[in-house]
Amino acid sequence: MSAPQETLVLIKPDGVARNLTGEILSRIESKGYQLVDIRMVQPDRDLLRAHYAEHEGKPFYEPLVTFMESGPVVAIRVAGHRVIEGIRSLCGATDPTQAAPGTIRGDLGRDWGLAVQQNLIHASDSPETAERELSLWFKS
Ligand code: RTP
Ligand code: MG
Repeated sequence: MSAPQETLVLIKPDGVARNLTGEILSRIESKGYQLVDIRMVQPDRDLLRAHYAEHEGKPFYEPLVTFMESGPVVAIRVAGHRVIEGIRSLCGATDPTQAAPGTIRGDLGRDWGLAVQQNLIHASDSPETAERELSLWFKS
C-alpha cells in the first residue's frame, strides 16, 4: 500500500480562543483520520503571507493576515486515504452562515460582521497545496 495522503489543518485564532481545539480535533479523529504531528504556533507575517499568497490583492487579504496573527494557531498534519477532500468536507463552506449544519463551520461558526470571515479552520485544498503548506508549517 502506498503512503497515505496528508493534509495541513490549521485551527485558526478564533477556534483556539473559543476553546474549540478539542472539539475540532475530535471531529477529525472521529472521522477516522490520523493526527501525525501537531504544534501550537504564533505565526509571523512572513509565514502568513506565504501561506495565503494566492489571495494577495483581494479585499480581505490584509484583514485575513491580521486576523491570523491575532493569536496562536494549532497546526496539524493529518493523514488518510482521500484526507484532503474529506477534511474540506468536514469544514463546510467558507462563509459560516452558509456552511451546512453538521460541518465544523456550520455547527460552530457564525458571521461576526468583521472585515474577514472568522471560520475556525483551514484545510489544504489540493495535493500540491498540501505539500506546499505542510513544508511551510512543519519546517524540520
Ligand atoms: P481556508 O483557505 O482558510 O481553508 O478557507 P477556504 O479555502 O474555505 O477559503 P478561501 O477562499 O481560501 O479564503 C481564505 C480565508 O479568507 C477568509 N475570507 N473571508 N469575504 C470574506 O470575508 C472572506 N473571504 C475569505 C476566510 O477566513 C477564508 O477561510
Ligand atoms: Mg483556501
